[in-house]
Amino acid sequence: MLDIAGLNQYYSGSHILRDVSLQAPEGKLSVLLGRNGVGKSTLLKCLMGVVPIRSGSIQWHGQALEALKPHARVAAGLGYVPQGREIFPRLTVEENLLVGAASRKAPKGIPAQIYELFPVLKDMKSRRGGDLSGGQQQQLAIGRALMSEPRVLILDEPTEGIQPNIIQDIGRTLRRLVDEFGMTIVLVEQYYEFAEMLADHYVVMDRGEVIAHGPGAEMQDKGVRSLISV
Ligand SMILES: Nc1ncnc2c1ncn2[C@@H]1O[C@H](COP(=O)(O)OP(=O)(O)O)[C@@H](O)[C@H]1O
Ligand SMILES: [Mg+2]
Repeated sequence: MLDIAGLNQYYSGSHILRDVSLQAPEGKLSVLLGRNGVGKSTLLKCLMGVVPIRSGSIQWHGQALEALKPHARVAAGLGYVPQGREIFPRLTVEENLLVGAASRKAPKGIPAQIYELFPVLKDMKSRRGGDLSGGQQQQLAIGRALMSEPRVLILDEPTEGIQPNIIQDIGRTLRRLVDEFGMTIVLVEQYYEFAEMLADHYVVMDRGEVIAHGPGAEMQDKGVRSLISV
């Protein structure tokens, strides 16, 4: 499991993450919910090592990650799909995917599995990233993260600004990654129905703190929707 304990983080003087502890069970999909600005993206950046933490521990399979640089965390099995996708608009789809394999010792082209999961990327492999629709770019960002063969896939609001039919495709693909490939997923999401549909486990944050967590099947009974509605 991915085990985060007692994490504290500050941006200049502001205490953004306050003693955050949470566990994402292995081979399950965990959803992290919370209103805008509560620290979800910051938590994911701390997980990846792209922003520093003041204190706390991050363990995957018993390996301590908190002192490692981002590339070493990728080598340890973490894959990251940032909020806003951050694809390279002037590189082709294929080139964007190969960037995701840069951490592997000998990248051997694009594995057939990536194109099987996202057929649209194969159809568009020679197009520039910037010419894709938002939903296609999101699929590209997920495909790029999969190029490093992660065991834990971390996604920050993949449904943001995307058409409903592609949201459903992305949901089915995430489910397959867990059920068929045994992947562990940590999904930050504000779209409640999507989160509830996919969650094996949920965690709710408010103002930098974890305020609720439990099995996904209990989200409705526990009134999780009201905890995140504005
Ligand atoms: N680079 C930054 N510098 C200073 N403050 C930041 C920075 N990024 C985010 N914040 C602040 O940290 C808080 C948490 O932001 P964020 O993690 O992006 O929230 P969420 O993803 O839950 O919407 C917010 O108050 C935000 O304004
Ligand atoms: Mg965010």
